[in-house]
Amino acid sequence: MMLGNRRNFVFRVSIVINIVVLLYAALHLSGNGAPGVEWVPITVDGSERTAEFRYLNRDEVRNETETRPIESSVKNIEESTSQKTPSTMATTNKTASSTASIAELEKKLLSIVPSEPETTNETILDIVDENALTDATLARLRTLLGCNEKDFLPQTIQRGDFWVLKNYVRADHGIILCHETITYTTHAGFEFLDNVQPLVERWMAPVSLAIHAPGADLAPTVDSIRYLRDCLNNDLIRQYVTFHVFFSNKHIPSKIPDPETFLLTPFNCTSKPPYNVDASSTYMKSKSLLYPVNVARNVARDSALTHFILPSDIELYPSPNLIPRFLNMIARNEKPLNSTKPRVFPISIFEVDAKVQVPSTKTELQAMLIKKTAIPFHKYVCPNCHNIPQGQQWMNAAETSQMDVFHVGKRRGKYVHWEPIFIGTHQDPYYDERLSWEGKKDKMTQGYILCVKDYDFMILNNAFLIHKPGIKHYAKNPKRDAIAGRQSSFVKNVIMPELKKLYGVRNGCAL
Ligand SMILES: *[C@@H]1O[C@H](CO)[C@@H](O)[C@H](O)[C@H]1NC(C)=O
Ligand SMILES: *[C@@H]1O[C@H](CO)[C@@H](O)[C@H](O)[C@H]1NC(C)=O
Ligand SMILES: *[C@@H]1O[C@H](CO)[C@@H](O)[C@H](O)[C@H]1NC(C)=O
Repeated sequence: MMLGNRRNFVFRVSIVINIVVLLYAALHLSGNGAPGVEWVPITVDGSERTAEFRYLNRDEVRNETETRPIESSVKNIEESTSQKTPSTMATTNKTASSTASIAELEKKLLSIVPSEPETTNETILDIVDENALTDATLARLRTLLGCNEKDFLPQTIQRGDFWVLKNYVRADHGIILCHETITYTTHAGFEFLDNVQPLVERWMAPVSLAIHAPGADLAPTVDSIRYLRDCLNNDLIRQYVTFHVFFSNKHIPSKIPDPETFLLTPFNCTSKPPYNVDASSTYMKSKSLLYPVNVARNVARDSALTHFILPSDIELYPSPNLIPRFLNMIARNEKPLNSTKPRVFPISIFEVDAKVQVPSTKTELQAMLIKKTAIPFHKYVCPNCHNIPQGQQWMNAAETSQMDVFHVGKRRGKYVHWEPIFIGTHQDPYYDERLSWEGKKDKMTQGYILCVKDYDFMILNNAFLIHKPGIKHYAKNPKRDAIAGRQSSFVKNVIMPELKKLYGVRNGCAL
């Protein structure tokens, strides 16, 4: 009882602090003559992950010879080196709706104060519909997660050798409280943006998308963003997707269109989608640039407004209703979730035939696995890379009525090179920004840190990711192999000694 009261007190105090900071920010901004009322909450941090293939010509099949875990880079260094300059891109009328009023935020925050606060943490939640989040569940999540809201303003930021236009085009979703949903954080070059619509139709929640747009790739990137927002007869992209753009300081586009201007004019939708181009025709390819996959991942992660994030590849489409089911599971906080050990939540990944419909439930997926129209991810490219602890048992187990942890695994032993895609938080290690996609193993260093920190890998029972239809086969790529060889020795000779100093070692952990 004492504990409940104390938690409740802390909870209320945190709300009050939030509101005070917001009001202060509102005054501050209006004092500066900022247009409209801006919302400036508190913490800034981030991360992001996964993403797989990328950047081979489309017809080149990706050769995934190993599992690639992740990379951690030193987040403090990143933060201290990123000079945040005030944005030159003010809120546009088009995007103004994404910065909701203080009154709206206050109302939203107050609505999560539980009606019977004394019992918040002690009572069993009565969850009737796993696909919906009740006020009681949201209040419980708020208390359990103890997260803070973040800033959602455009900013021009330096990140190592890169310039980042963070929140270049913002989603129209308005205020997002950090506990109420999950952000899918991902990245691409504009030629992959055909994936945005199928992705958001299944995710139905915020997507933070970092686009690598060096030099002349920015113009078609902007056209692609406009096309996605204006031409697909579908509000979901406007509603949920926030676009960030970044490029090397050696390849700054000659002209950087101002969203405040271009969003005022509807795009001419008679043209073909600007992202439907031959991947070999991009500026990036013509200059033989490597894809800075981990800069992209970190940019997308840093901008996510929610406590939980799903750093993933833009070609991986999540199973429907994943978010409410996951958050209801978190709110129940039953064993093994009620431990204090660091954890992430891996999601099983599958490929399906080019011609089939992407499955919506585990039951449908299982039927396809039997017919062989679905297979475990990269079965023909790198059979062991994505082996997941108890993977066969997972495939055999029937779908259940609620989301639960299927198995708690470790990245050790047979799974020492495991490269899972998982729901995590901003606390997880970053990706090492010195690694390229072409060099492979770009996520291994993050995986190593997760192992040394003894993370639990809580594999989710009914959730899954489906790769954009089309089953991949192994193909040799000598040029990429050469780059991979160099990156591999860089990881071994430079990064590993750093990680050992920073994080120490643990038996059974390897890169
Ligand atoms: C933005 O909207 C406000 C009111 O909705 C309007 O007065 C103003 O002219 C608009 N600005 C632009 C640039 O369209
Ligand atoms: C859109 O583009 C088409 C073809 O390029 C052109 O014929 C048409 O007039 C344009 N529409 C508008 C509204 O500009
Ligand atoms: C977690 O919950 C279980 C019951 O579901 C309980 O037996 C156990 O003591 C709890 N563990 C912690 C660390 O609170």
